[in-house]
Amino acid sequence: MLAAKRSLISIWQESDYASTHGDMRLFGRQVVLANSPETVKYVMVTRHENFERKSPQMRRALEHLLGDGLFISDGETWRRRRPLVGDIVHKNRVPTFGLTMEQVTLAMVERWRALPAGTSFNALGEMAELTAEIISRAVFGNQLGAAAAQDVVEAFTRYQGLIDNFNIGYFLGLDEGLPVFRGPRLRKAVAQLDRVIDKVVSDHLEGRGDHDSMLDLLVKRQQKSPELGLDVSALRNEAATIFMAGHETTAAVLTWAWYLISNAPWVEEAVLAELDRVCGGRVPTVADVPQLDWCRSVIEETLRLYPPVPILARQAKEADRIADLDVDPAALVVVVPWLLHRAVGLWDSPERFMPERFLANRPIPYSYVPFAIGPRICAGLAFGLTESILCFAILIQQFRVRVVPGVRVEPISRLTLRPAGGLPVTAECRRVA
Ligand code: HEM
Repeated sequence: MLAAKRSLISIWQESDYASTHGDMRLFGRQVVLANSPETVKYVMVTRHENFERKSPQMRRALEHLLGDGLFISDGETWRRRRPLVGDIVHKNRVPTFGLTMEQVTLAMVERWRALPAGTSFNALGEMAELTAEIISRAVFGNQLGAAAAQDVVEAFTRYQGLIDNFNIGYFLGLDEGLPVFRGPRLRKAVAQLDRVIDKVVSDHLEGRGDHDSMLDLLVKRQQKSPELGLDVSALRNEAATIFMAGHETTAAVLTWAWYLISNAPWVEEAVLAELDRVCGGRVPTVADVPQLDWCRSVIEETLRLYPPVPILARQAKEADRIADLDVDPAALVVVVPWLLHRAVGLWDSPERFMPERFLANRPIPYSYVPFAIGPRICAGLAFGLTESILCFAILIQQFRVRVVPGVRVEPISRLTLRPAGGLPVTAECRRVA
């Protein structure tokens, strides 16, 4: 249990990597692992309705922050909101945000250029700043202002530091788990966030918002179809959800990409050759992304080895049967991309970083689920993938990023999978623009 409290990926044994499914009891609670394409499909698609509910751990951890936001809602609320949020971040809308992605990344290029040669910094912190700025401009608009944006990021970070990885009440028999204690520090973090988001929401409701923001679209949908019932708190919850879901995940994949590429100069060469071929000397733009096959493969392979959401945890509504296993009502059912993506029978040399495996072939269906799969698949898949590829392409074209020698990197899973203590790197400028 102590291992689970520290990091949810440290609890798996060697044998779990080869297992297709199985169960165990943690105190009285049944925990079921679905770890084969068949069982993943069964849980996430075939019996989605029985397994659509997030784990009490996840719901309790995030309820003070996201309320009934899409990420942790289920039933009627989820069914009504999913098409709405899905539409707001739909792939057709991604190019609209391309310019923001480019501008924010280029500002980071300038900051890195100004660093004295050899300066080391934390890549995780930098990537978090980058993606927070991009998603906050996308959700709230450009008018948010640097100080308010900083308040949002800081409040999210503090909130996450205060919640536990583990809901003991659930394992001791309470099907809904125990509410997270709302101590003064947690309340302060939530209040700080509410203050900023509520102000942006009311600005938008009064027509003073940024017309290209995601929040603006939500408000317009509500004004057009009042039956959607998006009141101020629902708008706030969905805006907070998109911000949270779209920020840490992308920061994590970019950080892990720097870690992997740092030890794979042959991959870096292929990426640079591709950038030369597609962009010549100019900076990559969102329009180039479909041509950047190597960059895409690096991101896809990084998502395989270090899935930002390493565990997809659900609570069974009713008794069920997964393969030959009887599942209790309210059991915890987990699909673990961290294990599935490294399963020996599904991948050649699963431990090796080989982006080229994504160049020619697609993975076996239901063996690769960094964005989950089925009706609850990541609503921001296209946004997140495009953003990761573009930010990576712009930065790698300009900098040779290397992990500081001697640094020991330990993956740790809190809400997302990240290097414990961050990732110290140096970024050597390739050329002066
Ligand atoms: C590389 C980046 C990203 C990764 C790896 C990722 C991964 C995921 C995963 C695995 C889930 C499902 C979690 C679960 O079932 O427990 C999810 C849900 C979600 N993601 Fe992402 N995500 C990324 C980026 C984004 C972005 C950029 C946005 C928004 C712009 C976004 C919005 C959402 C939303 C709204 C949900 C909830 C969907 C629902 O429950 O119906 N994500 N994401």
